[in-house]
Amino acid sequence: MATLNAPSMERRPSTIAATRYIITGGSGFLGNKIVEKLLIDPSANVTILSRNPKQTRDRVSYFAADISSDAEVRSIFNEIKPHAVIHTASPLHNDTADAHYQTNVEGTNVLLKAALSTPETVAFVYTSSESAVKPSQEPLTEDKAELYVDADWHHPYGKTKAMAEGLVLKANGDHLKTAVIRLPGLYGEGDTVFVPHLMESIHKNEHKTQVGNNTKMFEFVYVDKAAEAHILATQALLDPVRGEGVAGEAFFISDGKPQPFFDFARKCYAAAGSPVEADEVSVVPLVVAQAMASTGEWAYKVLTFGSRTPHTRRDDVDHLDQGTCWSIEKAKQRLGYEPVADQDEAIRKTMEWAKIKFPGN
Ligand SMILES: NC(=O)c1ccc[n+]([C@@H]2O[C@H](COP(=O)([O-])OP(=O)(O)OC[C@H]3O[C@@H](n4cnc5c(N)ncnc54)[C@H](OP(=O)(O)O)[C@@H]3O)[C@@H](O)[C@H]2O)c1
Repeated sequence: MATLNAPSMERRPSTIAATRYIITGGSGFLGNKIVEKLLIDPSANVTILSRNPKQTRDRVSYFAADISSDAEVRSIFNEIKPHAVIHTASPLHNDTADAHYQTNVEGTNVLLKAALSTPETVAFVYTSSESAVKPSQEPLTEDKAELYVDADWHHPYGKTKAMAEGLVLKANGDHLKTAVIRLPGLYGEGDTVFVPHLMESIHKNEHKTQVGNNTKMFEFVYVDKAAEAHILATQALLDPVRGEGVAGEAFFISDGKPQPFFDFARKCYAAAGSPVEADEVSVVPLVVAQAMASTGEWAYKVLTFGSRTPHTRRDDVDHLDQGTCWSIEKAKQRLGYEPVADQDEAIRKTMEWAKIKFPGN
């Protein structure tokens, strides 16, 4: 992996008209929402970079490339000369360790090298995850957060997201201003993972099942607000004055409403027309779910020679016993971030969409 050498010269323009953005993973759940919001500015010039971008919008350029390919990424940067990069691309959490290292570590490094050697590129925002951060049950502030960079940490998703954060923040300098947005579980219209999983639970009549005692707090974030946070950070980095206090910094972003995981899931079930009453809940003890997940993971490893991983891993089950609780004060003060005003309404809109998208039999 090549090292990053930032040019020492100050090359940051004071104003950028018709800003050119590259959004990695711009056809994904979050990336698509960021693109939608950027296009509200009629002068925004938006490019999506991913392996198989979906060409669904006007006024957007699409480039099919793997972010870990130095040659492909450089050629796109040479052509677009972006002012800002919003880097959301990542494998899903349950992908293989190789995929995580290649995309999250190598790919992020390739993008940073391209950004640092492109004079026009002055802002770089990276999407990180709660999986990169050691859990807390008290509102955790960024200065107290510990990342999973330990050599022996075994979950490749969290570890490589943490490593990528380190690369991105280290690249902050006179030429390129960088920031990290850390997200908990995303929900919203267009979700391809969590909300479809909730709908599948309803269709299989598994939504009354709870794993563990449901006492740990979790954060969630509405995708509109997660997208807004990325744009606020990018705009701040593009502005030499507002960039102070944002450049070189990581930010926790959430709805600001920590709650037990299955409480949130049951709000979603109710909004989808399948409420779960307290006396209907059946509890699978955590240790039983952990044993089942470990067995499933072992079976996948043996049967696929390690090339595939099951949808639910042991770490996912363990996570239910760890939780997340964050302070979002830094984002409010430095980015001007405001969480969703009415989470129940955001859930309602999400599940209205989900009922149409995933009607079941
Ligand atoms: N969803 C959540 O609950 C959640 C929570 C916390 C953090 N995050 C973070 O938020 C970001 C976006 O998540 P999401 O839910 O929107 O995921 P998503 O829908 O899967 O979108 C990610 C996109 O990344 C692209 N991609 C993956 N590997 C790539 C590669 N090697 N080169 C180029 N493009 C690549 C994929 O597009 P192609 O297939 O076209 O390449 C995919 O559409 C990720 O960084 C994730 O870690 C998500």
